[in-house]
Amino acid sequence: MPSTLHLYAGNPEDVERAAQILRKGGLVAFPTETVYGLGANALDAGAVERIFAAKERPKWDPLIVHLSDAGQLAQLTQIAGPLEDRVTRLAEAFWPGPLTMLLPRTAACPAEVTAGRSTVGIRVPAHPVALALLQRVCLPIAAPSANRFGHVSPTTAQHVLDDLDGRIEAVLDGGAASVGVESTVVDPAQAPMLVYRAGAVGVRELADAAGVAAELFVPTPASLAGGRESLPSPGVGLRHYAPETPLVLTGPSPRALQEGASGALSRGERACLLLPVDWCLEIPMGWTAVPWGRWADPASLAAELFLALRAAEKTGADLILCALPEPGGLGDALRDRLLKAARSR
Ligand code: TXA
Ligand code: MG
Repeated sequence: MPSTLHLYAGNPEDVERAAQILRKGGLVAFPTETVYGLGANALDAGAVERIFAAKERPKWDPLIVHLSDAGQLAQLTQIAGPLEDRVTRLAEAFWPGPLTMLLPRTAACPAEVTAGRSTVGIRVPAHPVALALLQRVCLPIAAPSANRFGHVSPTTAQHVLDDLDGRIEAVLDGGAASVGVESTVVDPAQAPMLVYRAGAVGVRELADAAGVAAELFVPTPASLAGGRESLPSPGVGLRHYAPETPLVLTGPSPRALQEGASGALSRGERACLLLPVDWCLEIPMGWTAVPWGRWADPASLAAELFLALRAAEKTGADLILCALPEPGGLGDALRDRLLKAARSR
């Protein structure tokens, strides 16, 4: 395939071009408020299969379908009984926004999208460019994060091109994603509701909005040993979001990061630090530091996490050192991504 078209969201003709490519079964990466997604017509099994090929994504990992409005749910999902009330409450509270709900699917949803599962992940994104594109195409759009499988998720159009240039028809550039980590994934049919991926919508916020308890799903070693197909959500427990350079995590303080640096130095290693801009640290000669948001402001850490990891892997350091935030709120999402990125190959 020739190199990927770089389209600009500020140009209405480019948005129309992106919509046309999607309607014809092509692949277009587009910005959402969380990360860039790699979109294809969710109703076209052939187009959906091309997403898996471009990303080198295994067939067992299902895709999230993006809608411009919750009113389109009936085409792809079958929601009845008490679940209906719960889904309505969650949709009213968090859509458009960074929440994906796993919902019983209809036959209109190709099995390729859901990896043969009986539920489909659905979200209405909050990014104006994503919404404009979805409205132009008038189709549900399946879109995983627009990175090569297992690599760091993309928060800019350049990140998408770094991973997928020549593999997809176009990227629609709408600037940097603001949230910076992927949507919260919840199964609202469980009691308590189960959160399979932490994101900007917190576990407590979900429970408050739905009026039902919610908790983070923690896989047991036995469930992980059972293989991807048997996990309730195959993204759980995966080595993922991983930079090319090994990532080493320290405790959540400048002192712990400094100690981690001293340890690496004594082993003769050269590290790149992910350094919160409100921390002051002595950086050894010949080392590098990549600025990473403000520790006191977890939203800024989330917004810049993937940007910082991608910048750090380009420095050529032996390892990346980073402090692991405390649990709770966005801390849950940051910990999830960092722990998965640090998992050994
Ligand atoms: O913020 C986001 O969610 C971004 C943007 C583009 O919307 N998308 C995204 O997609 O992160 P992806 O494919 O990289 O991650 C989707 C996660 C995967 O871990 C997948 O296993 C899980 O959601 N998932 C999707 N559909 C599912 C289903 N039917 N059942 C269980 N897990 C599902
Ligand atoms: Mg992904």
